[in-house]
Amino acid sequence: MDEEQADHFDGLAVSDCPRCPALVESRSRIVNGVGPADADVLFVGEAPGATEDAEGEPFVGRSGAVLDEQLRAVGLDRESVRITNCVRCRPPENRDPTTEELGNCRGYLDAEIQRVDPDVIVTLGKVPGEHLLERSIAVTKETGTVEEIRVGEAETPRRVLICLHPAATLYDRSQESAFAETIREAAAIAGVSPSDGDGQSRLGEF
Ligand code: URA
Repeated sequence: MDEEQADHFDGLAVSDCPRCPALVESRSRIVNGVGPADADVLFVGEAPGATEDAEGEPFVGRSGAVLDEQLRAVGLDRESVRITNCVRCRPPENRDPTTEELGNCRGYLDAEIQRVDPDVIVTLGKVPGEHLLERSIAVTKETGTVEEIRVGEAETPRRVLICLHPAATLYDRSQESAFAETIREAAAIAGVSPSDGDGQSRLGEF
């Protein structure tokens, strides 16, 4: 992150950023992560879509509805997790963010990961999975796989759980069970079982 970026960033939220000309043009606003700053589970998507750009919150459109439903099913409600994106501005016509745009936004994501310090980072879809793991992935085959990464200068490895994008289940119903299973795995890593029902991590009890 350059100095100008750091001046408009509080460690979690970006208030302004001029780095990507095409995104400055296409966005209505910057969409920052939402959820507790000390959440046990951090979901990372690709970039805001039209609904997210309009409402200023990640995953509030159709994909968000799928995610919310699965979170509830495993006792993790939306308010108990943190949800963010690799890129915080909506790309024009919902195209994928470019490598340069992903790089420009990376400092914010790394800082958010360090600040939240989650038990698990769940990548929603191919773009965030490949961005964080720095390799190509076959999401449908690898969903549910946990890998460790290093973020920035930090010594401690971080756990990344590869997951399908929730929209994949809208295009292909047969992916629903794999998506549900991966979200269940995220909850298990964070110490939440469906019977808890209160969406709170139980890690603190041990
Ligand atoms: N898809 C994403 O990757 N991110 C969002 O915020 C919404 C849909």
